[in-house]
Amino acid sequence: MSEDFTDKTVLVTGGNSGIGRGIAHRFARAGAHVIIVARDVQKGTAVVAELGKQRAEFHSTDLSSEDNVVQLVNKLEEKFHHLDVVVNNAGSGSRRGGVTSDDGPGERWDKMRGANLDAAYFVSAHALPLLARAASGAIVNISSTATLHGNWGTYCIAKAGIEAVTRAFAAEGAEIGVRANCVSPGWIATEKDEELPASGAGEWEVPPSLLNRMGTPDEIAAAVCFLASHDASFITGQTLIVDGGLTVTDYPSLSMLERVGDRLKSR
Ligand SMILES: NC(=O)c1ccc[n+]([C@@H]2O[C@H](COP(=O)([O-])OP(=O)(O)OC[C@H]3O[C@@H](n4cnc5c(N)ncnc54)[C@H](OP(=O)(O)O)[C@@H]3O)[C@@H](O)[C@H]2O)c1
Repeated sequence: MSEDFTDKTVLVTGGNSGIGRGIAHRFARAGAHVIIVARDVQKGTAVVAELGKQRAEFHSTDLSSEDNVVQLVNKLEEKFHHLDVVVNNAGSGSRRGGVTSDDGPGERWDKMRGANLDAAYFVSAHALPLLARAASGAIVNISSTATLHGNWGTYCIAKAGIEAVTRAFAAEGAEIGVRANCVSPGWIATEKDEELPASGAGEWEVPPSLLNRMGTPDEIAAAVCFLASHDASFITGQTLIVDGGLTVTDYPSLSMLERVGDRLKSR
């Protein structure tokens, strides 16, 4: 059964808010001990309180620094000896990554690469020996459908790198019993959308998915838990798009197709 993570040790980066919080909740419901890592202590403590101190713990660190990641992994090794699952969810999108119009290409790239690609690479690389000690270790990375769209600047470049990191760690992990996969979310509504609606005015000019709504953190968490579970034991190196059909939709053609549809319906 895919949703049984009883007594498994699961690290969720960026688990103190948004999608990561949803992932942390789902693993905790499935019986795991969840290690949440991000920078904001207040938010981290709040999520641990939601899950219960027996079920979760929080570590505050900036994962874009390799030294910080090494210190974190050493601490976790001392306490747990192994990790069953690592979810590289921490990241920062174009809308919230702190990039300003004054930033030059190097600054933009540093800001987007650090939180997204560097963090996923450093955590995967340093946690790999701990995952190798698990019965069947699994890495699940979070990219974005922005990888398929060029209008997200350095964010889409960094996220595309995460999908390559996934394939590289699938190859490296195979010999030591570790699988690596990736979930690529489309538009997902989180608590931050209440502060800063994704569509600006809170309404969409075109639907955010083929299903005419945004996704939820739990819908991403479901895919993450599946890929981390024994049910996905023959799946490695893959990216699963979870976007309600956003990327299979040719939006510019919709109004034309509607007109054709109206003509056909009126026959
Ligand atoms: N929401 C969407 O529509 C969507 C769509 C596609 C992909 N994604 C991806 O899904 C992931 C979660 O996004 P979200 O929407 O849930 O955003 P969010 O609520 O802003 O969550 C991002 C998380 O990453 C952590 N983080 C950022 N930089 C970090 C750093 N340097 N070190 C450690 N932790 C860091 C943040 O915590 P602190 O600030 O406390 O460090 C936070 O917990 C991201 O990778 C994002 O790119 C989101």
